[in-house]
Order: sequence, then structure tokens, then C-alpha cells
Amino acid sequence: MKCTLASAVAFLAAKTQGSLVFLVSTEPGNKGIQKSWVTDRWVCHELTEPGLNKNISWAYVSSGLANGCYLYEDAGCNGTNTYVEKYKGDLCCPGDVNMTDVDFDNKASSWACY
Ligand SMILES: *[C@@H]1O[C@H](CO)[C@@H](O)[C@H](O)[C@H]1NC(C)=O
Ligand SMILES: *[C@@H]1O[C@H](CO)[C@@H](O)[C@H](O)[C@H]1NC(C)=O
Ligand SMILES: *[C@@H]1O[C@H](CO)[C@@H](O)[C@H](O)[C@H]1NC(C)=O
Repeated sequence: MKCTLASAVAFLAAKTQGSLVFLVSTEPGNKGIQKSWVTDRWVCHELTEPGLNKNISWAYVSSGLANGCYLYEDAGCNGTNTYVEKYKGDLCCPGDVNMTDVDFDNKASSWACY
């Protein structure tokens, strides 16, 4: 699982020249509706895509320029939030986060990476 995810992300990241790739899904473990974005840092994104608003249950930040991404409860990157730290390799930090583990299941309405 980790290997296929890593290679998919490596492919995306190679195409984006150092920009960040942020992935989410609507069920834990990258199941359900899946979505990924290439993003710059410091840009707030609304979860306007069908099925995603208040429905995110999993997130993953690939290696890139940012340190990690926040998911926010309210629009405009407002309200309570949870941090998803960038994956830094198997020796360091966890990669993907199930929102059920951080009390943020089906809460997010917007997100931004820094
Ligand atoms: C997230 O949840 C899925 C499904 O329950 C599980 O397979 C996976 O190992 C979990 N991932 C983490 C990082 O806990
Ligand atoms: C949430 O995602 C599930 C799939 O994981 C989908 O079946 C459901 O329609 C979505 N709910 C909303 C409110 O978009
Ligand atoms: C988010 O909060 C800021 C500061 O409190 C406010 O100016 C802005 O209007 C809010 N955005 C939305 C979309 O609610």
C-alpha cells in the first residue's frame, strides 16, 4: 500500500517541479472518493468539489516545498483545524492520517499548505 502510494506521489511530484501534492479521500485509508491537488504554499482552498465538503476522512502530504497542510472546519481557512505533516520518509514521521484518529472526521471545509 505504502509503496504504490509513494510511487504515485513521486510521479505527480516529478511533474510539478517541487510544488506540493496534497491528497484526500472520503473514507479512512485512501478509500471512497479520492482527490489530489498540486498546490502552492499559503493559498487557501475551499472544498467545493462534489462529495468532499465535510466528508474528508483521510489526508496525505507528499514531499515538496511545504512543511504540511491544515484542514479547517470552516470556509476561508477559518475555525478549528488539524495539521497533516509532510511525509518525510519511513524513518521519520507518519505519512497518511485518518481523520478518525485526530477527531476531525467529516469536518473539513477548506485547506491550505504552508
Ligand atoms: C487508516 O485506516 C485504514 C482503514 O481502517 C487502515 O487500513 C490504515 O492502516 C489506517 N492508517 C493509519 C495511518 O492509521
Ligand atoms: C461522502 O463520501 C461517500 C463516499 O466515501 C459518498 O458516498 C457520500 O455521498 C459523500 N457524502 C456527501 C455528503 O457528499
Ligand atoms: C475567515 O476569517 C477571517 C478573519 O476572522 C474573516 O475576515 C473572513 O471573512 C473569514 N472568511 C470566511 C469565508 O468566512
